[in-house]
Amino acid sequence: MLERIEQLRAEAQTEIEAATTAAALEEARVKHLGRKAELPNLLRGVAELAPKERGKVGKAANEARQALEALVDSRLAELEAAELDRSLVTDRVDVTLPGTPPQRAGRLHLITQTRREIEDVFVGLGFTVAEGPEIESVYYNFDALNHDPAHPARARTDTFYVDDDTVLRTHTSPMQIRYMEAHPPPIAVIIPGRTYRRDSDATHTPQFHQVEGMWVDEDVTLADLKGTLLAFARAIFGPDRDVRLRPHFFPFTEPSVEVDVSCFNCARDGSPCSVCRGEGWLEILGAGMVDPNVFGYVREHGYDPDRVQGWAFGMGIERVAMLKHAVPDLRLLYDNDLRFLEQFG
Ligand code: DAH
Repeated sequence: MLERIEQLRAEAQTEIEAATTAAALEEARVKHLGRKAELPNLLRGVAELAPKERGKVGKAANEARQALEALVDSRLAELEAAELDRSLVTDRVDVTLPGTPPQRAGRLHLITQTRREIEDVFVGLGFTVAEGPEIESVYYNFDALNHDPAHPARARTDTFYVDDDTVLRTHTSPMQIRYMEAHPPPIAVIIPGRTYRRDSDATHTPQFHQVEGMWVDEDVTLADLKGTLLAFARAIFGPDRDVRLRPHFFPFTEPSVEVDVSCFNCARDGSPCSVCRGEGWLEILGAGMVDPNVFGYVREHGYDPDRVQGWAFGMGIERVAMLKHAVPDLRLLYDNDLRFLEQFG
C-alpha cells in the first residue's frame, strides 16, 4: 500500500511539473487529486484498514496529498509568472512611436471656398448677402429683366423648363427683382447661388454658380461700379490688379459693360502668358447701370426710375476659381477627384 502511494505521488509529480499551461495543470490536478482520483480515495478508505496499517498509510497518503497540493500551487505560480513575463515582452508599448495621426477633418470644396472669399470681400464693403430660389418663374428670370419675347436665352434648347412658366434659373439676376420687391432703396446686396443652362463642355457645366451684385440709391454711378470692382479684383487677384470696362449688351442694364481684370499671371512670369493668351486682360463679369425698365417692374416698391439709379453685376464663381488657380478644365471641379480637390485649402 505504501508503495502504491509512493508510485501515485511520483506519477502525479511528473505530470504536474510537466504542465506548461494553467489548463494542463488543472487537468493534472483533477486527475491525481480530484474526487475520483486514486490517492484521495485511498485516504477515504483508511478507516477500513487494519488498525496497525491505518496510521502509517494514513500518514503517507496525507503527506503525499499535501505535497502534491503544494506542488500544484507553486507550479501555478510559476506558470502565471511566466505568462506575465511573456505579456510584458509582447504587449510592450513603444512610447517612442508616433501617435495615431489625427485624421484631417476634410476641407471645403474650391467652389465653396471661392464663394466665401467673394462674399467676404463684399460684406467688407458693406453689402448684404441674400439667396433665392433655383426654380424660378419665367417672369422673374426673363420678363421682369426686360428680355425681349424673342430673346434666344428663352429657347428650350438653351434653358431647362420645368413647365411653360417655370425654369431652372439661368442666372442669379432674377433675385434683383425679388430683392427689390422685398427691400426699398437704398440696397447694396450680393446674391450667390446655383444656376442652370443647357451647356456642357470644358468651360460650361449644366449647373454652375454665380454671384449677383446690386447697389441702388439715388446717386450711384458707373464710377462706383468701377471702384467697387477694382477693390474686389485686388482682394481676390492681388493688390496690383487693374480693371477695365468694355461696352456690351444685356437686356436689363443700360449702358452695359463687360469687366476685365488685368492678368495676374503676366505680371508674375512675363509673356507669352497661358492664362490670358497674351491679352493682358481676363474677362470676369458682366455689369451695367440697371435699366429704368427694370425699375418699372418694382416701381410700387419704392423704385421710381426717375428717382433711383444704380448698378448690377453678375459673375461666375467657377470662372473666378479657375482663373485664380489656373484650373484648365471646369469639369475638374465636379469630378470629385481627391487628387484635385486636396490641392485647395
Ligand atoms: N446675368 C448675366 C449672365 O448670366 C450676367 C449679368 C450681366 C448680371 C449684367 C448683371 C448684369 O447683373 O448687370 O450672363
